[in-house]
Amino acid sequence: MRSVTVFAPATVANVGSAFDVLGFAIAEPGDIVTARASSTPGVMISEVSGDGGALSKDPDRNTAGVSVQALLKELQQREPDRYASVGIELALRKGLPIGSGLGSSSASTVAAVVAANALLGSPLSREALLPFAMEGERVACGAAHADNVAPALLGGFVLIRSYNPLDVIHLATPSAPWVTVISPQLELKTQDARKVLKRSVSLESAISQWGNVAALVAGIYHDDVELMGRALEDKIVEPERAQLIPGYAAAKAAALTAGATGCSISGSGPSLFALSQSESIATTVGAAMVRAFADLGIASKPYVSQINSAGATIVSEE
Ligand code: HSE
Repeated sequence: MRSVTVFAPATVANVGSAFDVLGFAIAEPGDIVTARASSTPGVMISEVSGDGGALSKDPDRNTAGVSVQALLKELQQREPDRYASVGIELALRKGLPIGSGLGSSSASTVAAVVAANALLGSPLSREALLPFAMEGERVACGAAHADNVAPALLGGFVLIRSYNPLDVIHLATPSAPWVTVISPQLELKTQDARKVLKRSVSLESAISQWGNVAALVAGIYHDDVELMGRALEDKIVEPERAQLIPGYAAAKAAALTAGATGCSISGSGPSLFALSQSESIATTVGAAMVRAFADLGIASKPYVSQINSAGATIVSEE
C-alpha cells in the first residue's frame, strides 16, 4: 500500500459528570489524515490544511507526528529489520477548530495513527493503538487523558476505568439520544482549562459525582435519554470552567428551555453539548443556543447527530 486516508470524528469528553473518564464520538465534524509511504526514514508532516493552519509541521511538536513516531518506534523495537527504514509522510486536513473542546488534537492524532498502522499492514489492533494516540494528548495539553482519543478511535461511548494500568471499556452505543454540539467562536486551551480545577474535592461533591457517573452509564445501557440528561449534573468541574466560557449559563438555559434533557461543557470547552429525545428537538435546541450566544455578540456553529458508533474510518487506500 502506498497511501491510506482516514477520517476521525469530533468527540465529547467528560460527558458532564465523568471528568477524564468518559467520552463519546459524534458524526461530524472531524479531521482527515493521509499517510503516505516515503523513501525518507522517519515521520514527516507535509501539509496541514483547513482549520489547523497554525499547527506546527514539526513532527516532535504536532500531536499526530508525536503519536505516529511513538508507534513507529514501538514497531522498530519489536521488529528492527522490518521497520528500521520505514518512512511515513502525513497530510492533515483539519475540519475541527483548535481549542474548541471537540477533541481537535485527538481527531488528527487518531486519524494519523490509524492511517499509519493501516499503511504498514495493520500490525496492531485498534485497541492497541490507544497508548500511542494518548502520547499526542500529552503534547497537546500536558496530560495524557484518553476521553477524547478513545472514542475517536473506537467510536461510541468509551469509559476509562483506570489510567494506571490503562483499563478501557467500550460501552454500548445508545441509539435514542440526539446530540447537539455548539461550537462558539472562542478559543480555550485545555491546558488552561485544567489549571483552574481544584486539586481536592469534598466528600459531598464526590458522592454526588459518582452517583451521576453511575446513572449516566445506566442511562446509556437503558437507552434512556432523560436519565442520561439528568446524570450530566457536575458539581466539581462545571462550576469552575463555566466561568471561562462567556455566555455559558445563557446557552445552557436556552438548551434546557428548548427541550434538551441535559446540557454541559464539551470536553474542556468552550463548546457545549446537549442531549435530546429526537432530531427535531436537537435542531431546535441548537438554534436556541446559537441565539443565546448571538445575543452576546458571539458567533457559534451547531452540529446535530446521533452517537457515532464507528469512530475512525478508512476513507481510501491505494
Ligand atoms: N478530560 C479532558 C479535560 C478533556 O476536560 O480536560 C479535554 O478535551
